Amino acid sequence: MTRRALVAGNWKMNLDRERATALARGILEGSSGDGAEIAVFPPFVYLDAVGRVLESSPIAWGGQNMHFATSGAFTGEISGPMLTDLGARYVIVGHSERRHVFGESAELVGRKVAAAFEAGLVPVLCVGETIEQRRAGETRQVVFDQLAQGVAGITPEQAEKLVVAYEPVWAIGTGETATPEQAQEVHADLRGWLTERYSRETAARIRIQYGGSVKPSNAAELLAQDDIDGALVGGASLEVESFLAIVAAAR
Ligand code: PGA
Repeated sequence: MTRRALVAGNWKMNLDRERATALARGILEGSSGDGAEIAVFPPFVYLDAVGRVLESSPIAWGGQNMHFATSGAFTGEISGPMLTDLGARYVIVGHSERRHVFGESAELVGRKVAAAFEAGLVPVLCVGETIEQRRAGETRQVVFDQLAQGVAGITPEQAEKLVVAYEPVWAIGTGETATPEQAQEVHADLRGWLTERYSRETAARIRIQYGGSVKPSNAAELLAQDDIDGALVGGASLEVESFLAIVAAAR
């Protein structure tokens, strides 16, 4: 089973309309269309503009978060159907900034994963431990629990399409990266968990991205690991050149 790598740019709360569309155009013009699949996650308000740049191209776009309800009195929130309405294919769910800065629980994240599939989106479910949890030897326990609650409401057929992103919290935006061996170890553990929960076939289909200070200088080594199927890139996704260098490293 060969999984096609997914290299995704999480633009977070950065850029403005002009820079967001220029970045999308630059990625479109500089990518060949083969090799790794590419997706970008602009701020909600630029999704439409970015989608127009990328439409009828192989590059996908998605939301950085969503609400689990389809509509209703949820001031400031965005629903899955709203994202599909703008042509989104993916949605990031349970990013560590959502969990740790905005207090999202693993249970809430699970509801969002189920709602994403319901809306026809592919969720990118983020899991990862803090530095305290790693030092305490709790990494496996933490990521297994996040994964278990994340997939609690989905069917095995949906699980096959899921994307998981392992993002150690201590490596996000810090310049510190897990070593390829540290990352591979957790990725293999996650795939082992998925094998037990579903089947070898299903686990072999699920893409597990690594995220946390991925940059052109460390991407090739990380992406060469057996169970690392792409990258979720923050800082280095904001420049065409560095993002495309990471895409190229995923070949
Ligand atoms: P970073 O962010 O690449 O800037 O560390 C990764 C992420 O948060 O997805």
